Amino acid sequence: MFSLPYIIPIPQFSAQSTIHRLWNKMGTMKILILLLLSALLPVTEITAQHLKQRRDLTEHERTEHHRFDDVEKWARVFEDTARDEWQMPNEVIETIGIAKGTVIADIGSATGYFPVRFARVATEGRVYGIDIESNLVDYLNARAAREKLPNLKSILGDPDDPKIPERVDLVFICDTYHHIHKRGKYFENLKKYMQPEGRLVIVDFRKGDLPVGPKDEMKLAEEEVVRELTVVGYQLQPNSAQLPYQYVLVFDLNVNQPE
Ligand SMILES: C[S@@+](CC[C@H](N)C(=O)[O-])C[C@H]1O[C@@H](n2cnc3c(N)ncnc32)[C@H](O)[C@@H]1O
Repeated sequence: MFSLPYIIPIPQFSAQSTIHRLWNKMGTMKILILLLLSALLPVTEITAQHLKQRRDLTEHERTEHHRFDDVEKWARVFEDTARDEWQMPNEVIETIGIAKGTVIADIGSATGYFPVRFARVATEGRVYGIDIESNLVDYLNARAAREKLPNLKSILGDPDDPKIPERVDLVFICDTYHHIHKRGKYFENLKKYMQPEGRLVIVDFRKGDLPVGPKDEMKLAEEEVVRELTVVGYQLQPNSAQLPYQYVLVFDLNVNQPE
């Protein structure tokens, strides 16, 4: 059988160290210690595995896509008039600066909270509401018809490609950024749908314990969003928006970035 000094090297201070002497005196206790150690080794391995899985899960959860296929439920949540108080859509629209002829894509358009408001301002432009849930796309198209907004059209995108039908002046993404997977590739690809002087606007919840919005571990800090988008060629521009719970980030395309 292996002796303890074989598994755990014991420093040799003299011909026979104190620990060695103690070890030799222990007799049958040695067997008990060895049994205990061999029982503990798999436990520490499982604990390490468990910790790793928890880390992976947290990372996964942060970008997890919840299904938004229960239209009626989400319409009540997204279109709740109480949202206007903290979402301040008019202030957001004013900050971004939308003109009559602006062509806009709203990625993660859902039931149309922002796209409907955009369409009422960009009356001579076009507004595309992009979502990956077909029943939300149908819902928004029905809403556009009902509210007589011929300049608003909802389109089914792919999770990794918004499939915007033309180059737009503005891409707007509210509370959806963290749902997008492989964001580096996604936002690199997004540039082909933007006019050279086009802008990308991200509105999302700040980190911290807030009365509204997703769980803290699902959220991305403002700095993280800026860092991710800067790497793939977007340039942060100053803006004056001040929302109680969310940040508003306005980017343009960094034309100086080497291809
Ligand atoms: C939290 S909701 C935000 C809804 C809306 N922007 C608003 O402010 O009311 C997220 C929406 O993004 C959609 N979504 C998730 N991943 C997406 C992706 N990769 N491309 C487009 N839409 C996506 C979901 O189906 C859902 O409708």
